Amino acid sequence: MSTKLLVLLALVLVCALGHKDYERDEDLPHRWRDTDYQNNRIANEQHEMNEIAHSFRRVLREGKSTGCKDCELAAQIFFEIGQNKAALNDTTGALLRDACVDMFRNSTFDLDICFDVVGTLVVLVNKGLVLLNGWQVDFKEVVCADFLFYCVKPCCLLPYAPEQVRLSYRDSNPVGNSTAMSVGWVTLKQTPDAVVEWWTPSTPKSTNNASWNTYNHGGWIGIIHNATMSSLTADTLYTYRVGSDALGWSQEFTFKTLPLNIGTAERPLRVIGIADMGWAEAAQPTIAAIQAMVNNGTVDFVIHPGDIGYADGNEAWWDVFGREMEPITSRIPYMTVIGNHESIWWNGTGYKERWFRPDANMGAPSDSTFYQLNVGPVTFMMLDSETAWNTADYGQAQLNWMQLAFNDARSNGQLIFAAHHRPFYCSSNAIVDCTTLAVNLRSQAEALYKATGVSTVMCGHVHNYERTFPVYDNITDVNSTYSNVADPYYIVNGAAGNREGTSNFYTTSNLWSAVRLENIGYTVLEFVRQGGEDTFNMRFIDSASGQLLDQVILTKNVTTSQRH
Ligand SMILES: *[C@@H]1O[C@H](CO)[C@@H](O)[C@H](O)[C@H]1NC(C)=O
Ligand SMILES: *[C@@H]1O[C@H](CO)[C@@H](O)[C@H](O)[C@H]1NC(C)=O
Ligand SMILES: *[C@@H]1O[C@H](CO)[C@@H](O)[C@H](O)[C@H]1NC(C)=O
Ligand SMILES: *[C@@H]1O[C@H](CO)[C@@H](O)[C@H](O)[C@H]1NC(C)=O
Ligand SMILES: *[C@@H]1O[C@H](CO)[C@@H](O)[C@H](O)[C@H]1NC(C)=O
Ligand SMILES: *[C@@H]1O[C@H](CO)[C@@H](O)[C@H](O)[C@H]1NC(C)=O
Ligand SMILES: *[C@@H]1O[C@H](CO)[C@@H](O)[C@H](O)[C@H]1NC(C)=O
Ligand SMILES: *[C@@H]1O[C@H](CO)[C@@H](O)[C@H](O)[C@H]1NC(C)=O
Ligand SMILES: *[C@@H]1O[C@H](CO)[C@@H](O)[C@H](O)[C@H]1NC(C)=O
Ligand SMILES: *[C@@H]1O[C@H](CO)[C@@H](O)[C@H](O)[C@H]1NC(C)=O
Repeated sequence: MSTKLLVLLALVLVCALGHKDYERDEDLPHRWRDTDYQNNRIANEQHEMNEIAHSFRRVLREGKSTGCKDCELAAQIFFEIGQNKAALNDTTGALLRDACVDMFRNSTFDLDICFDVVGTLVVLVNKGLVLLNGWQVDFKEVVCADFLFYCVKPCCLLPYAPEQVRLSYRDSNPVGNSTAMSVGWVTLKQTPDAVVEWWTPSTPKSTNNASWNTYNHGGWIGIIHNATMSSLTADTLYTYRVGSDALGWSQEFTFKTLPLNIGTAERPLRVIGIADMGWAEAAQPTIAAIQAMVNNGTVDFVIHPGDIGYADGNEAWWDVFGREMEPITSRIPYMTVIGNHESIWWNGTGYKERWFRPDANMGAPSDSTFYQLNVGPVTFMMLDSETAWNTADYGQAQLNWMQLAFNDARSNGQLIFAAHHRPFYCSSNAIVDCTTLAVNLRSQAEALYKATGVSTVMCGHVHNYERTFPVYDNITDVNSTYSNVADPYYIVNGAAGNREGTSNFYTTSNLWSAVRLENIGYTVLEFVRQGGEDTFNMRFIDSASGQLLDQVILTKNVTTSQRH
């Protein structure tokens, strides 16, 4: 069987898979309500796809590959022909057949087989099973690297130079006189003696050895390192570098540890919140705005609840994003939460390997994709609302942990701020996300949020900005002053800029919906505890102009004594 035929078959396969991601926006909400149907269908699809992919790989291993360029050429031609077609009639079918003739004129390829494949593609498109225009990714790369393994994706240009340096708090309690910072980076080749070195003007160099990991999904080649800077003193400026004498060092970077009085009137805690930010043009104004705040020292760390970089299976885009973000991530911690653009690719492998997360503790499995962060008076609950199948679910292990963690934060008098990718409340045109899936997530955790006095919940997934009044179980107080309210308020903050564009609002009739904006922007979160009262000032800023577009100042009496 010709490898070119495999390319064509793979197109059909990939289209069927791609369809899964977009079905939620189609007219299928009633089917999504049937959980058994959903689970069976997804399980079957996944099983079939694994079988087909497996046999493709076997054939390729037998030495029939014609290489990356040929594969990408064929995939590109068929993508362009099939793009934006809701249906393929006889005329467009004929175009595809012409393409077969062109592509395989000089080979011994059996044209009848190519025609059969085109026929299958036409049938699938007409059944609504293929939505090529729904693919906001580089189609040829996804096909040829992810599914056919013709192409490899090296992370980096140089073999040993550390790149994509990123900081993350090592532990859930990053404030104190003996804290730790995790640093991650990427090299193309193995660097056996890699370490992190850190120092201050008045203390000598400390060193810790790095660990490494790798994976090969999507043809990706690279080594992901991580190391810990330990026994750090509060409120101190550190310089550090990663690498080794033998194979070279990164440049020197600096970061400052949190002061002990973080989150007070003398030293407010300032955090940037973004979600759904890609690596390409749309994200540049947001990246520039964050960088300006890092440069002038007015932000402590970033939280990014999901859809990080939009690699979407082309794993080398993670590296593009990593390089682009290095001026930020090498200087302040970058605390992430998994989104569906991560979780649906090999069950989130790229995300899990690249982004360090503090241990969740409290009986949660090690290496969980959820954790908490206690910073002065605030506890950030960083939650995983994703499944490997692009649906919304916390899962029992996380729900068990949430019971303990939220109640613990509550009894310590912490102001609780929750962040997860999928929204509880939204009004966008992603109708299934804002109805069935949102209601499902609410049924799992909204009561816990209320019972433990959660102040605010930040989500993404939907590509706009929407802020609610305090709301519980769809009931709201439109005249709320956000002062000592019993219910959380919610922000959809998926407006940081990505290639999928902006989501419109399909309804303005949700009473709880206070503000709806379609600007590209980010939020600045400022927390102060003073005189037994918490003040949480949330501002939504337009990335390009710096204009303030929305603001809420929430106040809340502290319930018991502060944790630290
Ligand atoms: C077939 O579809 C193309 C575009 O999809 C359209 O331009 C053309 O008019 C259609 N032809 C027939 C015969 O319907
Ligand atoms: C087929 O061969 C002819 C003559 O050698 C050449 O001009 C043409 O470009 C080839 N076509 C393809 C698709 O390789
Ligand atoms: C932390 O260290 C600083 C400087 O060494 C010291 O002044 C301070 O008392 C320490 N605080 C605590 C809580 O240990
Ligand atoms: C760090 O690595 C070096 C050489 O690779 C080794 O000799 C040393 O024991 C390691 N240190 C620790 C703490 O593992
Ligand atoms: C820091 O930079 C941000 C973003 O440019 C700006 O809004 C803010 O005013 C600056 N603050 C200081 C203290 O310079
Ligand atoms: C995906 O990963 C999570 C851990 O992050 C694990 O609990 C789950 O079983 C995995 N799912 C599949 C389908 O492999
Ligand atoms: C960091 O290294 C440790 C091994 O020390 C490993 O367990 C962990 O998964 C790594 N984290 C990342 C994000 O690579
Ligand atoms: C909100 O306040 C307005 C103006 O005071 C009032 O007319 C309205 O009834 C209030 N709405 C609710 C739901 O309390
Ligand atoms: C929630 O309330 C809005 C009005 O604010 C209503 O239109 C909507 O149907 C309600 N949704 C649910 C799931 O009850
Ligand atoms: C909040 O604290 C203030 C000042 O101590 C007090 O007057 C007020 O009653 C408290 N409000 C609530 C809702 O507990």
